[in-house]
Amino acid sequence: ATPSEEKDLVIIGGGVAGYVAAIKAGQEGLKVACIEKRGALGGTCLNVGCIPSKSLLNNSHLYHQILHDTKNRGIEVGDVKLNLAQMMKAKETSVSGLTKGIEFLFKKNNVEYIKGTGAFEDEHTIKVNLVDGGETSVRGKNILIATGSESTPFPGLEIDEKKVITSTGAIALTEVPKKMTVIGGGIIGLEMASVWSRLGSEVTVVEFLGQIGGPGMDNEVAKQSQKLLSKQGMKFKLNTKVVSGDASGEGVKLEVEAAKGGKAETIESDVVLVAIGRRPYTKGLNLESIGLETDTRGRLVIDSEYRTKLPHIRVVGDCTFGPMLAHKAEEEAVAAVEFITKGFGHVNYGAIPSVMYTHPEVAWVGANEQELKEQGVNYKVGSFPFSANSRAKTNLDSDGMVKFLADAETDRILGVHIIGPNAGEMIAEGTLALEYGASTEDIGRTCHAHPTLAEAFKEAAMNTYGKAVHY
Ligand code: FAD
Ligand code: NAI
Repeated sequence: ATPSEEKDLVIIGGGVAGYVAAIKAGQEGLKVACIEKRGALGGTCLNVGCIPSKSLLNNSHLYHQILHDTKNRGIEVGDVKLNLAQMMKAKETSVSGLTKGIEFLFKKNNVEYIKGTGAFEDEHTIKVNLVDGGETSVRGKNILIATGSESTPFPGLEIDEKKVITSTGAIALTEVPKKMTVIGGGIIGLEMASVWSRLGSEVTVVEFLGQIGGPGMDNEVAKQSQKLLSKQGMKFKLNTKVVSGDASGEGVKLEVEAAKGGKAETIESDVVLVAIGRRPYTKGLNLESIGLETDTRGRLVIDSEYRTKLPHIRVVGDCTFGPMLAHKAEEEAVAAVEFITKGFGHVNYGAIPSVMYTHPEVAWVGANEQELKEQGVNYKVGSFPFSANSRAKTNLDSDGMVKFLADAETDRILGVHIIGPNAGEMIAEGTLALEYGASTEDIGRTCHAHPTLAEAFKEAAMNTYGKAVHY
């Protein structure tokens, strides 16, 4: 193997964290290499996560709407048929277009793309087992670990990605299962349950906690979301734990019981989706050889400048602390490169939005009500239902609400929670408000175009300090 020249920065992992850092470093004039083992850039997000799941969510929603929500709109359609293979092809086209786009951006920004699996040979050298065979090694003054995460397995249930699947299998099924059971009512569980339930599966979601949505979702919003998803046909078993599973027969049998113990019940299904969270992925990096360790949850430990105890080795994205979100990984990537090039960088962890792309979407930023209660914060609430918003009404899509949480004394916005059409786009305004330390009155006195869904955002803010006009 011929070691290539020493780089200013070597990045292990070409996911959102790694590829964004690589492009940013290239833009800043650093000599940079990015090592990725899957044969395509973009990581989990582009290849098996955000992008393919949103393609299926979008197209399954369209299919479901054409089946169930056209007559009242004055549209008579003939036979509607699902062509699952074509739906998957549409997904693949979106994915491959985007991953190739990153390769183009690498070339444009002089990033060396090394296709292979990287492992530490010493503190500055990464040995790479190349995808096409053979080995090379690359030295870096700085090294960035961005190796991401993998789905957490359920003990005793072996994943075959056909009958017992993770999200990776759930975006690639070749037929619609008659019965699907989802272990875990977090974001992956609910997004994938939405896709397959819209396409015709009978879906049951088993959730250990008393509410769906995973960590962070506001209680009131989670309850509304569950109600609306139930109306679409999804079944929920909350406060219920899966005790064991058996996939040896034709389908899959799950033994479930009340989370606090109780009578057991067997659920039989054709496919079981395991969606109980993700865990950091650092396998095979040979971290031990350079004395780096992970914490009890498998996360690489870093300081506020993303440095490990070896200060030239930094870590960003899913394999370290914080929410496992693509946009969080992206912000960290930029900040980490800025620490290298400028000596300072910043991510505001208090203003990272979350979006669940179900229908209606759920989106939030900042604190939720249960957190404020726990912290003893003196807060006020203002909300506005989409049923009183003109645009939502014309769209015949008016389930949900916008909810503001603000400091009772200063009116500073502490959190924004939206369930409703386009919540995922609308939360950008809430994030900006939080980032700039806005008050609800700042929002209420800002002109919003009519008729738009965003007017519900403005009026919810107005309801926090005074009175909305339309409710
Ligand atoms: P990853 O994307 O996991 O990338 C790490 C990369 O490193 C991988 O490509 C891996 O092959 C590579 N790698 C690992 N070890 C090595 C090695 N030794 N050598 C070389 N390469 C290596 N987030 C959102 O914000 N919005 C969403 O809508 C969303 N939807 C999701 C849907 C699903 C089904 C899933 C599973 C996740 C979703 N996420 C979403 C989360 C998002 O995908 C992650 O937060 C994001 O991908 C994290 O980026 P990362 O670069 O840290 O890790
Ligand atoms: P999650 O942490 O969001 O939810 C997992 C759920 O499973 C929790 O509600 C938990 O209580 C439950 N659970 C755990 N063990 C259980 C058991 N034995 N029986 C029943 N329920 C059990 O994790 P999820 O949904 O797997 O997603 C992983 C990560 O991927 C998330 O952290 C999220 O950040 C990211 N993601 C983001 C998306 C988005 O932004 N739209 C989409 C998909 C994933």
